[in-house]
Amino acid sequence: HTYRVAVIPADGVGKEVVAAGCRVLDAVAEQSRTFRFEWTEFPWGSDYYAKHGRMMPEDGLETLRGYDAIYFGAVGWETVPDHVSLWGLRLNITQNFDQWANVRPVTFLPGVTSPLRKAAEVELDWVVVRENSEGEYAGLGGRNLSGRGPGNEVALQTALFTEKGCERIMRFAFDLARKRRVKKVSSVTKSNAQQYGMVLWDEVFARVAQDYPDVATESVLVDAMSAKFVLHPEDLSVVVASNLNADILSDLGSALAGSLGLASSANLNPDGRFPSMFEPVHGSAPDIAGLGVANPIGQISSGALMLEHFGLAAEAARVEAAVRGATAAGVRTRDIGGNATTDEVTTAVVEALQRA
Ligand code: NAI
Ligand code: MG
Repeated sequence: HTYRVAVIPADGVGKEVVAAGCRVLDAVAEQSRTFRFEWTEFPWGSDYYAKHGRMMPEDGLETLRGYDAIYFGAVGWETVPDHVSLWGLRLNITQNFDQWANVRPVTFLPGVTSPLRKAAEVELDWVVVRENSEGEYAGLGGRNLSGRGPGNEVALQTALFTEKGCERIMRFAFDLARKRRVKKVSSVTKSNAQQYGMVLWDEVFARVAQDYPDVATESVLVDAMSAKFVLHPEDLSVVVASNLNADILSDLGSALAGSLGLASSANLNPDGRFPSMFEPVHGSAPDIAGLGVANPIGQISSGALMLEHFGLAAEAARVEAAVRGATAAGVRTRDIGGNATTDEVTTAVVEALQRA
């Protein structure tokens, strides 16, 4: 079988880590002999914007629609305002392809020091499930609404919560929890202060939970949850949260695992009407871009999520094992305390695959 994947490295370290990810995925495919990847690269992003005044072509979504999946790097560069680059490319795709479930695993890797590990012998094995289509990133609102001239501007940024949107992400989270060792879903809101949307969220959560009596539940406010991430990480399995809250919590989660460069993510359209998109959690990291030292593990593990999405669970597990092999052997980039380059880590992962 041939999987046709659209590749969008976009900006900064995205260009470096996407190449690393494709190398690892090609190595898995070659070993399996039952499937291969056909990569089609699209040079969209901030460089494209400089030439064309937009982040991707007008018919870009139509082009992408025909692919089995999208393998994405990171978007954002100093030449384009961040909200323009994000909405022009990444959010354009997640919103229009109805990729409403964003899955972001958080785990420890051997040989990687976590700020948590210093304190106690804990294990981290979480999945942050992010509502990815509405909430605080619905794009609703406007600027200069006062009409009273300079110094009086009023801007409105409205969060959108629909009963259907809440319900589908919660069922997704519960179904995922059922497949995990610890069957528990923690729902995160700020429903004491945000009394409309987040109260609806809480109510839908309580109702959906009744259909999953075998799964433990809790509702935690986001401020308390950020403390809990640090103080009681062993208490968590699946964490379901709105677009903004889950965005913030998943960066915290990856930092607790050792580095933002390790964290993977899948933007899923579970209905299967559109291609899903796989990308690391991190951004374009302008501070280290071009140096060849970016950690490729977030991108490589996002590739493992893509394999899982294609039904290749054994191959996905092999990629994860190879990543653990590389970090355990001490082949680590700077952000996790080593001095290996992106290429060296990628080679170590490919070699671990070939040894297995
Ligand atoms: P960032 O994630 O790019 O970087 C934050 C810190 O983490 C930096 O110190 C960076 O060096 C480090 N880091 C990130 N990825 C790494 C990797 N693979 N290996 C080693 N270290 C890594 O976030 P920042 O600096 O806030 O944003 C930079 C640009 O990226 C902005 O334009 C922003 O809008 C964009 N961005 C894009 C995202 C996406 O495409 N999904 C997500 C987050 C930010
Ligand atoms: Mg983020």
